[in-house]
Amino acid sequence: MDRASDYGSEGWGFNSLRARHHHMGHPVAVQELKARLAGARAVAALTGAGISADSGVPTFRGADGLWQTHRAEDLATPEAFARDPRLVWEWYNWRRELIAAKSPNAAHYALVDLERRVERFWLITQNVDGLHPAAGSQKLSEIHGNIWKVRCTQCGQVGTNSAVPILIPPRCPTCNGLLRPHIVWFGESLDPVDLERSFSAVRSCEVLLIVGTSGIVYPAASFASLAKEAGAFVAEVNLDPTPNTQIVDVAIRGRAKDIVPVLL
Ligand code: APR
Repeated sequence: MDRASDYGSEGWGFNSLRARHHHMGHPVAVQELKARLAGARAVAALTGAGISADSGVPTFRGADGLWQTHRAEDLATPEAFARDPRLVWEWYNWRRELIAAKSPNAAHYALVDLERRVERFWLITQNVDGLHPAAGSQKLSEIHGNIWKVRCTQCGQVGTNSAVPILIPPRCPTCNGLLRPHIVWFGESLDPVDLERSFSAVRSCEVLLIVGTSGIVYPAASFASLAKEAGAFVAEVNLDPTPNTQIVDVAIRGRAKDIVPVLL
């Protein structure tokens, strides 16, 4: 869901919880989070573009962010696709070519390791780059879709297409209908199965680990406070402060590739 709009008022001061902010790798915070993760039987993780930044995938709102140089409403809405599917596909082809040359980094692999260690684990990602499944993540909801998947606008069939470059406009192998990226665009709702799976993981985890997201796009932006309300210990690993920083128990500033592996 390439939606950049929902900076809901809830995002700020949703719950004036005491939060202990710790800068880059502050040993006390890292030790506390390590101990919490080691002792937990149910862990959920939420990731955003920041976890893939260390793999060279541009973020959305960072200095080199996609939304700095591209108008999302011209490229990531059903209206834009109806208006000019070729333009939208050229943009997604450019992103696919860029991502195809990238590999998961140590933070992606550390979350695969966590998945294998913890009894009940679920990973919720906002990323469409496919680097989590490429690293080996299986207990995963890609709530904004996946850039290597396509969906027929006529028969609705969803398939995988990893052609780089992709033939534009791509056609459905079954009904020859026009294919679109299987990505949740602005104004579109999430897959109800992904949503339900994500909410139940966030509400039943003992630890929620949030990595590399600006925390302004809903529903993912509500997960920190939902987990807190359910009694979980919530941690943020991020380069910059975010609205989540006010909510979490520990906030660790730093690069995902440096911090996340250390936590395990
Ligand atoms: N390590 C950790 N955090 C990082 C790193 C890094 N190497 N690099 C950047 N960050 C942080 C930034 O500080 C920022 O807070 O990652 C965050 C990335 O924020 P966004 O670019 O807004 O990306 P994201 O939160 O994933 O966006 C959410 O918005 O446009 C839509 O659908 C799109 O899924 C996306 C959603």
